[in-house]
Amino acid sequence: MAEFPFVSDVKVPTKDNELSLAEMSEALPDTATIMTRVGECWWHLIYAARGGNWGLADYYLRRVVKLENTLVTLRPKHRERMARFQRQAVPPVLAAMEAQDLEALEAAFQAATDMANSLHGESGYSYIRWELPGEPPKGLHLGAMEPAADAPSGNGQVGRQ
Ligand code: HEM
Repeated sequence: MAEFPFVSDVKVPTKDNELSLAEMSEALPDTATIMTRVGECWWHLIYAARGGNWGLADYYLRRVVKLENTLVTLRPKHRERMARFQRQAVPPVLAAMEAQDLEALEAAFQAATDMANSLHGESGYSYIRWELPGEPPKGLHLGAMEPAADAPSGNGQVGRQ
């Protein structure tokens, strides 16, 4: 009968090395790294919507949700607080974006930001208070875009990742 190694003895060959599962797990992004990316996407989202590039704003909302889902997969201790944020704060943001209603989006974005900062407090990080940078992000076109004639339709919304 074949003998299986203990999980702790399993080595995974990579291009340059052989790593144990524990070493691979330690190399995964930590909460702070994921949250830094969430903060950047959140910043990009509102400036894209303000500029009229609603497709880009939708793209960043999907990235935020995907990063948050990755976070709770890696760190389930954040699951309950994250689920509350996704249940309460994200749907009004999504609805305003689907309606391309900037006024409603500004209100929903501010409410979601306030909730995120309150959840930072609940998580033990009351000194982490996300603030919207006064400058738009550089390097991406934030203005309205003509839809490409040959673009696939319905290329993803929150929930369709
Ligand atoms: C759009 C919403 C959110 C934004 C923009 C945001 C942004 C940030 C930022 C910029 C940091 C600091 C990262 C760093 O520079 O080290 C952070 C940390 C953190 N956030 Fe959020 N956050 C959001 C939502 C949430 C939610 C819903 C939770 C609920 C679990 C959460 C939990 C945390 C935790 C636990 C940290 C501390 C990370 C650590 O050092 O281990 N955040 N967040």
